[in-house]
Formats: sequence, C-alpha cells, structure tokens
Amino acid sequence: MTAPVIAIDGPSASGKGTVAERVARALGFHYLDSGALYRLVALAAQRGGIALDDVPGLARTAGAMQIEFREGRAWLSGEDVSEALRAEAVGVAASRVAAAPEVRACLLDRQRGFRAPPGLVADGRDMGSVVFPDAALKVFLTAGVEIRAQRRHKQLMEKGMYAKMPDVVEELRQRDDRDMKRTVAPLKHYPDAVFLDTTAISVDEAVASVLAEWRNRSGK
Ligand code: CDP
Ligand code: CDP
Repeated sequence: MTAPVIAIDGPSASGKGTVAERVARALGFHYLDSGALYRLVALAAQRGGIALDDVPGLARTAGAMQIEFREGRAWLSGEDVSEALRAEAVGVAASRVAAAPEVRACLLDRQRGFRAPPGLVADGRDMGSVVFPDAALKVFLTAGVEIRAQRRHKQLMEKGMYAKMPDVVEELRQRDDRDMKRTVAPLKHYPDAVFLDTTAISVDEAVASVLAEWRNRSGK
C-alpha cells in the first residue's frame, strides 16, 4: 500500500508551511515544502547566470541542481541556503520560474520521491491537484491578503530582512495573480479540497482543524 498524503495548498503566507510542518510532526509523517524546490531553482539559476526567461536553461537547472533537505534546512551544492531562500525576491523569482511547464515537469519525480511510510504532508500550490492527486486529505488554506502581508512582513523583519509593508502587499498580490493565472497547475480551490480560512484563527486552531479532519477520514 502506498503511503498516505495530506496535501495543503494555498496562497503565499496563508500559513501552509507552518501548519503542514506541525501536522507532520504530530502524525510522525515526512514533510515536503514544495515551494522550496521552486525557490532553489530560482536561486540556482541566479547563481548560474541563467535568465528567468531562459526556459530550457531553467529546466536544465531544475534537473541538475544538487539539493538536500536536512534538519529543517536546505542545501544547494553543499551550501546551506536556508536563509537566502526566504528572501521575497527569491519568492518572486520562484513564481516566474514556476510558470514554465518544463520546469514543473522536471520537479515532479523529485516531489513524489518524498512519499514514504508512514505518510507525507506536502504543501504548495498543486500538491492535491497535480503532484498527489490521490492524496487522502486535501486542504486549501487561505487568508485575506492584508493579514497575509502582515504575517510575511513580521516574518521578514524577524529574520532581519528589512521590507516596507506596501511593497510586501504589492509583491504578494503580484505573486498570487501570477500563480492563479498561469496555464499549468494554477493555484485554485479544487472542489475536493477542504477550505480553511486562517484570517481569524491561530496556527494552533488551524493545526487542530487539519488533524481533526485527518482523524475523521483515517479513523485513527
Ligand atoms: O507557507 P506559507 O507561505 O503559506 O506561510 P507560513 O510561512 O507558514 O506562515 C506565514 C506566517 O504566518 C508564519 O509566521 C505563521 O506563524 C503565521 N501564521 C499565523 O500567524 N496565523 C495563522 N493562522 C497561520 C500562520
Ligand atoms: O512561502 P510562500 O507561500 O510565499 O511561497 P512558496 O510556497 O515557497 O512558493 C514560492 C513560489 O513557488 C510560489 O509563488 C509559486 O509560484 C511556486 N510554487 C508552485 O508553483 N507550486 C508549488 N507546489 C509550490 C510553489
């Protein structure tokens, strides 16, 4: 029997990563931050002098990049790039890279490779729609753009990455727009995903809600 997957999709700063990681820890499941893969392609391309509109170059980069996830950190060619990956500029570049079907195709097997017993919690934009269409539980996590921008702004400031609030709002809006309008694997709420709006709820409440849904379905 294949290991079960919990897919958590949604827009930027809706809480996907935080909630997915906590759900994975509570269940003893593996965790995949699929956005980190797109961020890694963007960073590797930047470092390799590949332009963001050079699709064959980006696809080659996605296929060849040497990456590793260890102890909650991400490594590119043996270098710990965890902090560099979180910069908003890398998020914006990632969303441009992610619009290319060739790049998405190159990352498919890498993502599916994370599926292993006893189970996987995966977060991103197309976990439940494309990468793991047979996921046992699909969640669409969202929140109003203003609150998401406030959360992202706070996160960036805590990491010492200075950002102006109006710029963060604008970048989130542009990224949402690009992610929702692209032709391949667009971000959207699929009817088979449970809708969870975190605008007015805490991380604890969101985690409890996903776990309750999982227990309901799995009977565990
Ligand atoms: O992965 P994604 O970009 O969707 O979001 P995240 O990085 O997990 O969450 C963005 C920030 O929002 C984190 O600092 C979370 O702790 C916070 N958050 C929150 O304050 N309340 C929630 N209900 C969900 C997330
Ligand atoms: O943390 P945040 O939600 O801001 O971004 P992320 O999940 O790290 O994703 C960065 C970018 O990668 C997104 O804006 C998407 O364009 C892209 N992405 C995607 O297309 N498909 C995924 N499964 C995950 C991310």
